[in-house]
Amino acid sequence: MYKILLLGNGGREHALAWKMAQSPLCEKLFIAQGNAGTAQIGININIPIKHFEQIRQFCVQNHINLIVVGSEEPLVKGIKDYFEAQAALKDIPIIGPNRTGAKIEGSKDWSKQFMLKYGIPTARARTFTKENFEEGIQYLQNHTLPIVLKADGLAAGKGVVIAPTITQAEQTLKNMLLNNTFGEAGQKVLIEQFLQGIELSVFILTDGENYVLLPEAKDYKRIGEGDTGPNTGGMGAVSPVPFADTTFMQKVKNQIIEPTLQGLKKEGIVYQGFIFFGLMNVQGNPYVIEYNCRLGDPEAEVILPRLQTDLIALFEATLQKKLANFKLQINPDFTTTIMLVSQGYPEKYEKGFPITLPQNLPQEVIIFHAGTTRSTENQKLITNGGRVLAVTASASSLQNALQKSLHVACNIHFEGKYYRKDIGKDLIIDLA
Ligand code: AMP
Ligand code: GLY
Repeated sequence: MYKILLLGNGGREHALAWKMAQSPLCEKLFIAQGNAGTAQIGININIPIKHFEQIRQFCVQNHINLIVVGSEEPLVKGIKDYFEAQAALKDIPIIGPNRTGAKIEGSKDWSKQFMLKYGIPTARARTFTKENFEEGIQYLQNHTLPIVLKADGLAAGKGVVIAPTITQAEQTLKNMLLNNTFGEAGQKVLIEQFLQGIELSVFILTDGENYVLLPEAKDYKRIGEGDTGPNTGGMGAVSPVPFADTTFMQKVKNQIIEPTLQGLKKEGIVYQGFIFFGLMNVQGNPYVIEYNCRLGDPEAEVILPRLQTDLIALFEATLQKKLANFKLQINPDFTTTIMLVSQGYPEKYEKGFPITLPQNLPQEVIIFHAGTTRSTENQKLITNGGRVLAVTASASSLQNALQKSLHVACNIHFEGKYYRKDIGKDLIIDLA
């Protein structure tokens, strides 16, 4: 039996909490800091996820024997290393890599060098710093357009700029390297080739030796319909993805997943946790755009509902290095999620608006909470972030799943509510 501490507060964490709470192996579930959704399933605790010392105290006092890290920040900051370095904690297993393993997400320069070293298909790129800024400007002059510029470190999903002209690329390079617009994260900048294709999110859980392949998903990153406007954390997702057929997924396994795991081993990294491969399908061939050391959000809100396997049993097998023969049970139905966001997101938005949820939900619809909380005055549900709720639905056809998500999205109310009505529509054309 497990007393679990889950770290994070988004829709992904509500989905993880929802799935773990269904397991007979779940004795107690705490979430730091969670949201109004996770509070219905477990106990939210008011500890910031970057305060490792407070987390340590909580784990000891509450006999925690499993930590599941939802968000990248504690992993990149080395929560696993922190625990392993202390006698009282080193036996508390953590789902997630150590600081070096988390570099696959924490440093785009590190992960690019890693991919090049192990022959993993990715976009061509060169890295520049303040010291060779002028050389970077020169490098831009003969670059094909558009030009992708990436801040090396974590930048809350805002560190990638796709510049349509050389002048805009020069300005971005200057802002990142000389004007410190991304602070520490932009001290190194990758200038990268633009890959034309369709994106796909692929997920595995690895025990350091073997892995299980989780359902894939397509995320919709832009704020506006028709994939327009600025990038967000993700406005909706669909799983399965029709173009991720057996031939394509075989290429993903052979050319990307397996070389990545072999590379990590060769680097001496024992990686036990999720790997999220952000891929571009370029004319039938997969390329890595980015790695993440966690599940995606909102992808988790469609892949976890499809997983019929006990998630805690899966974590247990991961920690015991028993994934080699672990067979996942996956629901073949289409699952869709639509994010309801606050007006102004991903830029400035207000919080604190009351939320009304429908009295009855249709079958196979789940509302996952992201930026929600309870008002301190009257305990009413209120908005507390840019992404507020994810409406997940399942059906045997993509159209029906989307229809259910859209129907419920329409019947949820809060001031300034916005959502994309075209999530998954491109894939329906694909299916026709
Ligand atoms: P990332 O933060 O690395 O996920 O990048 C954000 C988004 O920028 C990705 O989801 C892609 O849509 C886009 N992107 C990043 N790198 C490239 C690339 N090399 N070619 C085309 N689009 C890219
Ligand atoms: N939805 C993309 C991410 O979680 O990074």
